[in-house]
Amino acid sequence: MWDDFTRWGFPGADERVGFVQDLSLHILDIAENSLAAGARRVEIRIEEDLQADRMTIEIVDDGCGMDEEMVKRVLDPFFTTKTTRRVGLGLPLLAEACRMSNGKFCLQSCPGGGTTVRATFQRSHIDRKPLGNIGDTLITLIVGHPEVDLFYEHRKDGGHFSLDTREIKAELGDVPLNTPQIASALRASIFSGLGELGV
Ligand SMILES: Nc1ncnc2c1ncn2[C@@H]1O[C@H](COP(=O)(O)OP(=O)(O)OP(=O)(O)O)[C@@H](O)[C@H]1O
Ligand SMILES: [Mg+2]
Repeated sequence: MWDDFTRWGFPGADERVGFVQDLSLHILDIAENSLAAGARRVEIRIEEDLQADRMTIEIVDDGCGMDEEMVKRVLDPFFTTKTTRRVGLGLPLLAEACRMSNGKFCLQSCPGGGTTVRATFQRSHIDRKPLGNIGDTLITLIVGHPEVDLFYEHRKDGGHFSLDTREIKAELGDVPLNTPQIASALRASIFSGLGELGV
């Protein structure tokens, strides 16, 4: 039994505060901030440049934005506008994940002008977290918030995969994106697109 604990970690280890294993979960956190800020469109771009040994993640929203003072304060884990608890960890944890892997974190925002979060990583760095299941992050966002437009673009090694729910919605007409058959077709197409890209 102890061998298993050593190999797999203690039960519940993933739930420890501050322990986000995969970049796809950081991305979900940051996109949830966008949704909480009233965004109608969220754009997520990932670029993996193998030659430059760089990975870049960018999340852009058209939500309410933040003023200059707030932009400075949000990187402090003890700052949150949530009333349910006193710490906000989404942004500081992603910034820390960048710092740990020789990358840079950049937050640009202005009231009424939306927010851009850009995180870069040294792709081969031993402490660079794996991307994890980005397909599930996308499906969670699409099915949970079908009214919000989601754009996703992933570039890797000359290859490219993208998805724009605004275009899909225009084709579907009145049928909501979270209809089970549509959601499962979307899921299949996302996973096949990502698979072809080698993600
Ligand atoms: N995209 C955004 N648009 C507007 N405000 C934002 C955005 N992202 C973050 N904020 C503000 O920054 C605060 C801190 O965000 P952060 O993700 O670090 O913590 P949190 O969302 O409060 O809590 P947690 O992510 O741990 O659940 C948020 O409470 C919110 O007020
Ligand atoms: Mg958050």
